[in-house]
Amino acid sequence: MELVVHDSPGAVASAVSASVSQEINERATSDGTTFSLGLAGGSTPEATYRDLAGTQTEWRNVTAWLADERWVPQDSPRSNGLMAAQSLFDHVPGNLVRPEFSDEMEPDESAAAYGRFLRDLHLKTPPDLVLLGLGDDGHTASLFPGSRALDENQHRYVSNVIPETGEVRLTATYPLLNTARRVLFLVVGEAKAAALKASLAGATPAGRVGGSETKVEWHVDRHAASQLS
Ligand code: 6PG
Repeated sequence: MELVVHDSPGAVASAVSASVSQEINERATSDGTTFSLGLAGGSTPEATYRDLAGTQTEWRNVTAWLADERWVPQDSPRSNGLMAAQSLFDHVPGNLVRPEFSDEMEPDESAAAYGRFLRDLHLKTPPDLVLLGLGDDGHTASLFPGSRALDENQHRYVSNVIPETGEVRLTATYPLLNTARRVLFLVVGEAKAAALKASLAGATPAGRVGGSETKVEWHVDRHAASQLS
């Protein structure tokens, strides 16, 4: 596990953007195989995605997917997929695959279909790189404390309910996330300081991400790192 403390949220975004671009380009020049990129939702990663849109990156080899999604229409301003499209994938020739949503679908059905897509995407190789955020309660993706998805040990993608609010989400699970070659957490702001400290101790859902072969890196700003000794 690696922790990098940056001076500002902008420095976090720039550093993560450069690292993602470099890794995609290295893959493109080595064997040109599909690069599987998992995307964080929420607000923190948007600056990284906007920065990535301006980089010289070999997006044609990239298939991107969402580490989690809210159960909302694809054109909802709350949609993680819409945020990723508007900040990055509408501007580059990468392939962003988003979970289906319709009023006639059940969340479980959509999660199962997306799980089958992710199974097929990773038949031969695991996810290359997954970007994740951190909630102030220690959740990541939509793996919330006390939620059912934390105990999922088979399916790669499931529907989940936020215990406090009853909000329905779709989320990658540990069976998928913990096979990733590399996970980058992006964490900024004082509000995340306690959750970051607990996560680095493995005491939150976010802290449980990463298998024995996974390179886990935390890119945080000074405020989020304020409770670390
Ligand atoms: C979501 C995210 C979630 C997010 C954290 C941090 O759908 O909201 O996937 O896990 O990463 O809640 O959110 P912020 O970056 O907005 O603080």
